[in-house]
Amino acid sequence: MSRWPRGLAGPAAALAVVLGAAQAAADSLARDSMDVVLGKALFERLWVSAPSSTKAADGLGPLFNARACSSCHQGGGRATLALEEGDLPPSAGLTLRVGTTAEGRLAPHPELGLQVQTMAVAGLRPEGELHVTFVTHGERLTDGTEVELRRPRIRITGQDAPRDLAWISPRLAPSLHGSGLLERVPLSRLAELADPDDLDGDGISGAMIVGQYGEQDIEPGRFGWKGDEPDLTRQISAAFHFDLGLSTPVRPELWGDCAEAQAACREAPQGAAAGEAEIDGNLVALIATYLRALPVPAGSRGGADVSAGAALFGAIGCGNCHIAQQPAELASGEITWFRPYSDLLVHDMGDGLADRAADDSVSTVPGARDWRTAPLWGLGARAVAEEGANLLHDGRARSILEAILWHGGEAEPAKQRAGELSAADRAALIAFLESL
Ligand code: HEC
Ligand code: HEC
Repeated sequence: MSRWPRGLAGPAAALAVVLGAAQAAADSLARDSMDVVLGKALFERLWVSAPSSTKAADGLGPLFNARACSSCHQGGGRATLALEEGDLPPSAGLTLRVGTTAEGRLAPHPELGLQVQTMAVAGLRPEGELHVTFVTHGERLTDGTEVELRRPRIRITGQDAPRDLAWISPRLAPSLHGSGLLERVPLSRLAELADPDDLDGDGISGAMIVGQYGEQDIEPGRFGWKGDEPDLTRQISAAFHFDLGLSTPVRPELWGDCAEAQAACREAPQGAAAGEAEIDGNLVALIATYLRALPVPAGSRGGADVSAGAALFGAIGCGNCHIAQQPAELASGEITWFRPYSDLLVHDMGDGLADRAADDSVSTVPGARDWRTAPLWGLGARAVAEEGANLLHDGRARSILEAILWHGGEAEPAKQRAGELSAADRAALIAFLESL
């Protein structure tokens, strides 16, 4: 028997609810603690460039995308951005990873590094602005319904933008609610769910991804749209590095993501001496404490009977990747089950969702089609957000139905079955998804 049953039913499910309540109580204790308050203040702090009179808050940049974590993740939530054609505001919460290939691996671009920074300290130029256009096509469902799908095509403008990019990967800032539980799903559970060579022949081969950028492989990831950061400490350090240009013990480069050829950036004043970090490990830990205390997403629309839609979700294969329940190992060693609707594994999602190259062809960089199963908790609230639903990694989907129709690759059969549902069944499926 497997150590981690795929889910719970009957009395076990009831027990999970009780354990969930215990977790909620533990969460609220944590929320009261001083560290959470300090972590929140750091999350909202506007960092300034060096040298400044407030030594403790300086070192921003030299190149950066925003001045605070909360600029992109307002209140710990996802980016609130109206995704439209035209120039994106500099810290809109949609970032662009870029790269070239070297020896078959993804390599930083020699003039941009691995992310385009849209802001710079006085005296330096940002790497460019991001400009959005949409490429659209239609999908026809079996019952004749037509759906228009749009894919954002993001270009770097405003500078002598390089044209030789082999990899362009736009990413929307996701919600951070519940990341404390995602971090606690045991690796043994992920290893058990993973099936990279599809040995069980169900067409779904979730993989645990190991760091794909550096020379040395890191341990399996679980954060980020591509699931490449293993824990909150490293994810937060990556955010400081790429988004704010601040160094941490894990990512000690004082100049952040500036490539070697970006001499002016590498020589600009920094917020710490060589060998020291601008942000020390304690500050990273405080932010992690704050993130762990953010409440898990609550279902937005309770009440309605969504059991028919839940059954369809399982029957057409959505639940093979969007696994409802996951165990989290608490600090006490106890296991609590929670409901993120994700296996936290990475799947080949086909060409439609794949990262592109500068000429808009599908990128051939390894991993271009790979995405971590997006947790569906909180989906109902996201789908009705004022700024637009902005679903999927680049915010392209304006509705839950659009998000489903972009599924391809390993999810192609499930998507086909969703497209073949009667209008009534499709409505039931979506009502269930809106209840999450
Ligand atoms: C410029 C916008 C921006 C800023 C500023 C920013 N982030 Fe993010 N954040 C993102 C994007 C985009 C992603 C998705 C990254 C990816 O998929 O590679 C992300 C992902 C994350 C995740 C992973 C969530 C998950 O479930 O996968 C965490 C945690 C996080 N950010 C924390 C932070 C913290 C802490 C800060 C401040 C130190 C910060 N972010 C600053 C845009 C931003
Ligand atoms: C092979 C695994 C797999 C299957 C099967 C699958 N999904 Fe997904 N799903 C994903 C991945 C991976 C993403 C993230 C893709 C991205 O952002 O590019 C995702 C994203 C989504 C999103 C967008 C969530 C958000 O917050 O942006 C929705 C909604 C969704 N899936 C619903 C479904 C439904 C409904 C089905 C069944 C018809 C289904 N999925 C089947 C892997 C899968």
